[in-house]
Amino acid sequence: MAEPAAVVEETAEAPKKPVDPTFEPEIIVFACHYCAYAAADLAGSMRLQYPSNIRMIKLPCTGKLEVIHLLRAIEAGADGVYAAGCLEGECHYLKGNLWARKRVNHVKDLLAELGIEPERVEMYNMSSAMGAKFAEVATEFTQRIKELGPNPVKREGVSPHAAAREALGGVAMPEDPQEASAAATVEEGLAE
Ligand code: FES
Repeated sequence: MAEPAAVVEETAEAPKKPVDPTFEPEIIVFACHYCAYAAADLAGSMRLQYPSNIRMIKLPCTGKLEVIHLLRAIEAGADGVYAAGCLEGECHYLKGNLWARKRVNHVKDLLAELGIEPERVEMYNMSSAMGAKFAEVATEFTQRIKELGPNPVKREGVSPHAAAREALGGVAMPEDPQEASAAATVEEGLAE
């Protein structure tokens, strides 16, 4: 008897949207002061290139990041948001980075329910010595968001960075003076 024909499994991959070369995503990074923020400094001193699309908000630990802060950044129009915390087992507050990962995963589920791509939110771990990893993550995540396209709830005239900072209140650490003046220049430029 003839063998039944093999069933060819259909690959149900959605066709990729064409990337708009003019789209420059706004990405908010919630960075732990002990690791990712220091890794960004290291990347700078190593003169590693990474996209200027990311705007960082320094936290004493990613464990301070709540679901509402991530959602506020997305609601204010951030095209992508990620938390960058210490390596697992190396959080200065023991489990802050584990809580952050849980909250990020919860936000992914909420976004999926709302019909927004969950890939717009992510959690990464790194040490302060990982300048190259910081640059690599910033580059890969920016490319991911470019491929996804703009946040569908983007609104004109709203700064996701300012909205996320405001939602964090006193939890966000002050920006370094140099960074603060650069950010002010960008915000003023956008306001014109
Ligand atoms: Fe860095 Fe907790 S101290 S993630």
